[in-house]
Amino acid sequence: MERRKVLRLFFVSSIAAVIAPKFSFAHLNPIEKLDFSSLDFGKDFKWGVATAAYQIEGAHNIDGKSPSIWDTFSHKKGAIKTGENGDIACDFYHSYEKDLDLLKSLNMTVFRFSIAWSRILPNGIGTTNQTGIDFYHRVIDACLARGIEPWITLYHWDLPQILQDKGGWINRDAVLWFSEYANLVTKTYGGKVKNWMVFNEPSAFTALGYLIGYHAPGLKGLKQYLPAVHHVCLSQAEGGRIIRKNVANANIGTTFSCSHVDVFNSKKRDGEAASRWDVILNRLFIEPALGMGYPTESLPILRKLNKYIQPGDLERLKFDFDFIGVQNYTREVVKANAFIPFMKGLEIKPVKRGAKEITEMGWEVYPEGIYKILKQFAAYPGVKKIFVTENGCAFPDEAVDGKVNDINRIDFYQRYLKEVLRAKKEGVNIGGFFSWTLLDNFEWNEGFKPRFGLVHVDFKTQKRIIKESGYWFKDFLLFL
Ligand code: BGC
Repeated sequence: MERRKVLRLFFVSSIAAVIAPKFSFAHLNPIEKLDFSSLDFGKDFKWGVATAAYQIEGAHNIDGKSPSIWDTFSHKKGAIKTGENGDIACDFYHSYEKDLDLLKSLNMTVFRFSIAWSRILPNGIGTTNQTGIDFYHRVIDACLARGIEPWITLYHWDLPQILQDKGGWINRDAVLWFSEYANLVTKTYGGKVKNWMVFNEPSAFTALGYLIGYHAPGLKGLKQYLPAVHHVCLSQAEGGRIIRKNVANANIGTTFSCSHVDVFNSKKRDGEAASRWDVILNRLFIEPALGMGYPTESLPILRKLNKYIQPGDLERLKFDFDFIGVQNYTREVVKANAFIPFMKGLEIKPVKRGAKEITEMGWEVYPEGIYKILKQFAAYPGVKKIFVTENGCAFPDEAVDGKVNDINRIDFYQRYLKEVLRAKKEGVNIGGFFSWTLLDNFEWNEGFKPRFGLVHVDFKTQKRIIKESGYWFKDFLLFL
């Protein structure tokens, strides 16, 4: 065994011997002998969870909150596979103190959450709702009181419905609406919160919500999608500038949903399809921010964006982010398909490819993918630092006698973390890892079925049970 490993084992076991009477190590490393520890990531590395307002808060229509596009969409017949909605979700609005206690008990020190725009600006712009503003003050204070860093995402998909009624992201005024909202949030909380993310996964909410209609607001077609892309891109940079102006010593980022793209086989047209898919998934929103413009050469249909680009816009798309949030779950395998007209690319379902390990979402477990995508993003000269702002998996967990034995999730995290560490050791500047997510919650158009949490939630009683994976993190992070 390598010397460093022997030393580490010695170190861990001697500490264990001293504190063993106080702590249980029953959960540590139940799957395989880990050949790394949390210490390998470094003392400054941040460990936490990521969440989103609509998925956990509930309290959808109280204390002055107005409906968001998700309130509207989830109430539409057939929009959510299970017929459920986020009206109550995890009731985090009322249980945040206890939920933050749970997070603290897992030895994690970052709570990433988003603000529900329509809770603090019920008209989208204009008059503020003090009760809503106070709620997030309480959440932030509750984090700080527990030694947990609050990391705020300005926008995690829940546009006020009243603004969607005016066209939402399709309307260029969205840049002004978003700027007003971002100004309010950063001026209000900027004294206490230093870590900020402008958007959660713009490629996901524009494509799912404005191109294929699977998510709110349920619109379809290029005519909706392309202007939404451009206005979101402008707002992304504008949001960065607003945070910089209003928050002293801010650490400013934005997050991207990204997956390594593989080609189905060696055919030329599959390769071309894969490169187009890579644009939509991974390149479309980061490259304009880095000053590279839209990746039109690799996806010619993007030339149609010119219709929405005004003089000075290309300059305004740039912002020098302090970090990039990489959110990765799986990989994509692409095969050409003439029936998908402008993309000519089709994602092949992992099952068809014979992948052995599939999560409840139908996503392939592919740990090496996170290593590859971290390398891909780190290769951009303008990317200074990366945080893994989401990674996790859904499995059909069951609570039996007050226990949730989610051994497959522990295995998932161990293997993904190993790949994150590999990238870090090879020089990728990675500052932290946030699990998706603390609580089982409302998984958008899938309803409550896919359970991603480190903590199991019984949605009838709101009872929480820390899963074995939660205990695994607790033990893994014990020595930090
Ligand atoms: C989103 C989350 C979502 C998770 C799992 C991410 O794309 O940011 O809101 O729940 O993936 O699907």
